[in-house]
Amino acid sequence: MLLLRESGLPSITDTPAWQALASHCAELRARPLRSLFAEDPQRFERFSIRVGDILLDYSKNRIVAETMSRLCALAETAGVREWARRMFAGEAINVTEGRAVLHTALRNRSEAPVRVHGQDVMPAVRETLAQMRRFSEAVRSGAWRGAAGHPIRAVVNIGIGGSDLGPAMAVDALEACREQSLTVRFVSNVDGSHLAMTLADLEPESTLFVVVSKTFTTQETLGNARSARAWLEQRLGPDAVARHFVAVTSETARARDFGIDTDNVFAFWDWVGGRYSLWSAVGLAVALSVGMERFEQMLDGAHAMDRHFLDSPLESNMPVTLALLGVWYVNFLGAEAHAVIPYDQRLRRLPAYLQQLDMESNGKCVDRDGRRMECHTGPVIFGEPGTNAQHAFFQLLHQGTRLVPADLIAAAVTDFPVGEHHAILMANFLAQSTALMRGRTLDEARAQLVKGGLERADADRLAPHRSYPGDRPSNSILLRRLDPGTLGALIALYEHKVFVQGVIWGINSFDQWGVELGKQIAGGLLPALGDGDSGVDDSSTRGLLEQYRRWAADG
Ligand code: F6P
Repeated sequence: MLLLRESGLPSITDTPAWQALASHCAELRARPLRSLFAEDPQRFERFSIRVGDILLDYSKNRIVAETMSRLCALAETAGVREWARRMFAGEAINVTEGRAVLHTALRNRSEAPVRVHGQDVMPAVRETLAQMRRFSEAVRSGAWRGAAGHPIRAVVNIGIGGSDLGPAMAVDALEACREQSLTVRFVSNVDGSHLAMTLADLEPESTLFVVVSKTFTTQETLGNARSARAWLEQRLGPDAVARHFVAVTSETARARDFGIDTDNVFAFWDWVGGRYSLWSAVGLAVALSVGMERFEQMLDGAHAMDRHFLDSPLESNMPVTLALLGVWYVNFLGAEAHAVIPYDQRLRRLPAYLQQLDMESNGKCVDRDGRRMECHTGPVIFGEPGTNAQHAFFQLLHQGTRLVPADLIAAAVTDFPVGEHHAILMANFLAQSTALMRGRTLDEARAQLVKGGLERADADRLAPHRSYPGDRPSNSILLRRLDPGTLGALIALYEHKVFVQGVIWGINSFDQWGVELGKQIAGGLLPALGDGDSGVDDSSTRGLLEQYRRWAADG
């Protein structure tokens, strides 16, 4: 008998679709990727999808056609299509907070209305875009002047989590089209060194702070904003704040109380989750860096991916495919981690961005109904740019005992042609997925060592160390070039991947209660860092606190 949940649905693990995958998995284990390629010359054609200027090759995964059809059946069972429809329609699918989830409305480039509680949100979305355009053009053109009459030369975005990672990642990614006369920096950490190092070579007269906080209560952001305000006031006086601080928040009154002119407060709404907010005025730093036109091209790219996600059959749907492959590895092949390797230095912050997107969304141990999960949910996301990553943790990907699927991402055309660099980069991008997939057998390793001049006995001894198990899965994501449109589409691709996985697992991907407990304990501990009572009852924290106090007192 299927165990019914409050919502009336069985746990996904109890469904025939899940069980069919479990038995299929056992059958497939004996078929290494290398032989799957040898058996099927059409594997690339069969297992690749192109959407606009993005190509996903997922042929180097431990799958056959039957795997994908069974995974699609799982998506059908979980109701992925219906949940997607509900999300785009503005239903309150964030059940623990009673909120709609409408980052897609922020990049809705069609004329279609999007309603929340019966009211079309699109006029407000468009008005904020217009406000961003006016403001970013004024700053970029020099028309906006600081309190002492200077044009703005540096923008400092103060925010954390979703109010930092998205714009920071996108500003780096769009380096090729940024306004050279404007420096855009990001301060997130409450560690004072972050703010101090960021401001060290800036002049208050020509610096603009963008304070980004949905709630305008976040300890780190308000701490940094207050210290930045003190830095500014020290040179220019309190009246200068209105010309040097703007805010992006859904809490206008709090920004006003901070001293920010309400004309310079950019709104966003409770139906935009922090980690999904890049498309709102949270992207103001991006618009300041690359111009509003390019920011809107990013929205266009994301919108195109939204259309693809909504309109394409599950079998040829890029986000659904990525999501299903992830579920395959996490739930059926035992993967605990997932690597993201951008072969593009400009995407160096993408892994950090995806860490929040994926792990804050799907790092959940209860389902929508509050019942303990019966299967694993989101994996550990990590990554670094290729080729750097190859010289750090790729050893484990190739020869470690764990299965770590990886996404390798590259752009065919570079905006920074320097000698042979791009060709070398691309050779590495192609080589790594090949090596992971193919591996090298013991016999091959031995033969190669003998060919290289080793005695047979030495070759035998070294061969286990020089062979590679192979059969290690990866997705290759090739962009025509990294520009605002492909960046927008790429991010939307991952957003929808995370969404689909959350639907399959039956969790709410849009809350983040897991981050609250630590915040509360930190609040209680703050007085104890002086000589207040810690109220802490475990010996570890008490011991650490006492040692901290001794060393801090010594200086
Ligand atoms: O602590 C987690 C979190 O709530 C994130 O979800 C969010 O992106 C970040 O803090 C920043 O929140 P805010 O924009 O309200 O300052």
